[in-house]
Amino acid sequence: MNAIDLLEQQHREVEDLFEEFEEAGENARKTKERLCQKLADALAVHAEIEEKIFYPECKQEDTEDLLREAVEEHLGVKRLLADIMESEPDDAQLEARVKVLQEQVEHHVEEEEGELFPKVRKALSKEELEEMGTRMEQLAEELMGQGSPREQIPGQTDTAPEI
Ligand SMILES: [Fe+2]
Repeated sequence: MNAIDLLEQQHREVEDLFEEFEEAGENARKTKERLCQKLADALAVHAEIEEKIFYPECKQEDTEDLLREAVEEHLGVKRLLADIMESEPDDAQLEARVKVLQEQVEHHVEEEEGELFPKVRKALSKEELEEMGTRMEQLAEELMGQGSPREQIPGQTDTAPEI
């Protein structure tokens, strides 16, 4: 699969999870807890395949600043996710944390899809994007296969990775 198509597909999946969270009733604690776990797993996998494969491979003169920003945004998202993972489902702040997370993710997605991806599409060939996408899919499957990819998040909240 084309690397950019894969990332955009993951963006849509995460947006759907935020929507489901919003639509869950006030008292749907179990549902909200499950959705938070799914969000954390999905975002952990997404961040990992971008940081380990996609970002390093699309580093060039005109993307370097965008990538530096992107890893800082991932760090912010991970810090919030770590807080959310520690929140009790009936914590009064949980909804607010998820809302802020959603805003940060939406901003990040806009920058990637609006600025970074068009530059990468120009710089790399279809074959290169396909080949990269295959490796990213493999890593995503590996991480999901290990069980709960979200568990790596609390250990990644210090500084943004070098890419
Ligand atoms: Fe990202």
